Amino acid sequence: MNGRTVLVTGGTGGIGTAIVRHLARLGHRVATSFRDPAKADAWGAAMTEEDLDVHIFQGDVSDLHSCEAMAREIETRLGPVEILVNNAGITRDAALHKMGHQQWLDVVNTNLNACFNVTRPVIEGMRRRQWGRIVQISSINGQKGQYGQANYAAAKAGMHGFTMSLAQENAKFGITVNTVSPGYVATDMVMAVPEEVREKIVAQIPMGRLGKPEEIAHAVAFLVGEDAAWITGANLAINGGQDMGW
Ligand code: CAA
Repeated sequence: MNGRTVLVTGGTGGIGTAIVRHLARLGHRVATSFRDPAKADAWGAAMTEEDLDVHIFQGDVSDLHSCEAMAREIETRLGPVEILVNNAGITRDAALHKMGHQQWLDVVNTNLNACFNVTRPVIEGMRRRQWGRIVQISSINGQKGQYGQANYAAAKAGMHGFTMSLAQENAKFGITVNTVSPGYVATDMVMAVPEEVREKIVAQIPMGRLGKPEEIAHAVAFLVGEDAAWITGANLAINGGQDMGW
C-alpha cells in the first residue's frame, strides 16, 4: 500500500477540506470525522468525484468513547492512524460577561478536550510502530487573544501546550508533534463574523487579505512529510503578518 493512513478531524469544514484534499493528492488514505450526516454525504460525494482516497467516519471529537470507536473502525478499514491532524473546531463568540456556561463548555470540549479524545486512542500504536505525525490546528487568537473569544482563545492556546508536552514525550519514538496557527482564513467560520468587524480585522493584516484554506493545507503537508522529521514542538503562525510574536 502506498501512502499513509491519515485522520483529519472536522475534515468537512473550510480548512479541513483543504487539508484532506492536499494530503489525499499526495497519495495518502485520508479518513475524516463528521457529526452532521447530511453535510458529510454531499461532501463525500464531492471528494469521490475528484477521485480522492477519502473516507468518512461518524465520530464526535468531544466524546472519548466515540473517538475510541472511530479509531478502531479506521484501523479495520484503512490501517492504523499514522498521521493525525486535530483540526475540528467551533466558535461560540461572546464577551465573557455575556457568555453562557454552555458556550464555554462547547468550545473547550470540541477544540481542546478533543485533542485528548482523538489522540489518546492512536498514540500507543504510533509509539509501537516508531513513526507518527501529529498536528494541532490552533489559531492566531490562541496566540494573541481576541475580544469575544475567551473560550476559543483559551482552548486554542491550550492546544499548543498539548503539542509541546506530547512533542517531548514522543520524540524518541519517531513521532513529531506540531501546531499550525492560522490567522483569518476565508472560511464559513470567518465569514460568520459580522461584516463591519471583519473589515476592521482585514485592515490589520499586512498582506491586506484573508488567507486561503490551501495556504494552511500546504504547511500541514510540509509538517507531516518525511523530511520534517526534526521539526517538533513548533508553532507555525500563518496569518498574513497580522501577529508576528516570537
Ligand atoms: N475591541 C474592543 N472593544 C470591542 C471589540 C474589540 N475588538 N469588539 C467589540 N467591542 C465592544 C464594542 O465597541 C461595544 O462597546 P460599547 O458597548 O462600549 O459600545 C461592545 O464591545 C459590544 O460590541 P458588539 O455590539 O459587537 O457586541 P456583541 O455582544 O453583539 O458582539 C462579539 C460581540 C461577539 C465579540 C462581536 O463583536 C464579534 O463577533 N467579534 C468578532 C470576534 C472574532 O474575531 N471572532 C473570530 C471568529 S473566526 C475564528 O475564530 C477563526 C480563527 O481562528 C481566526
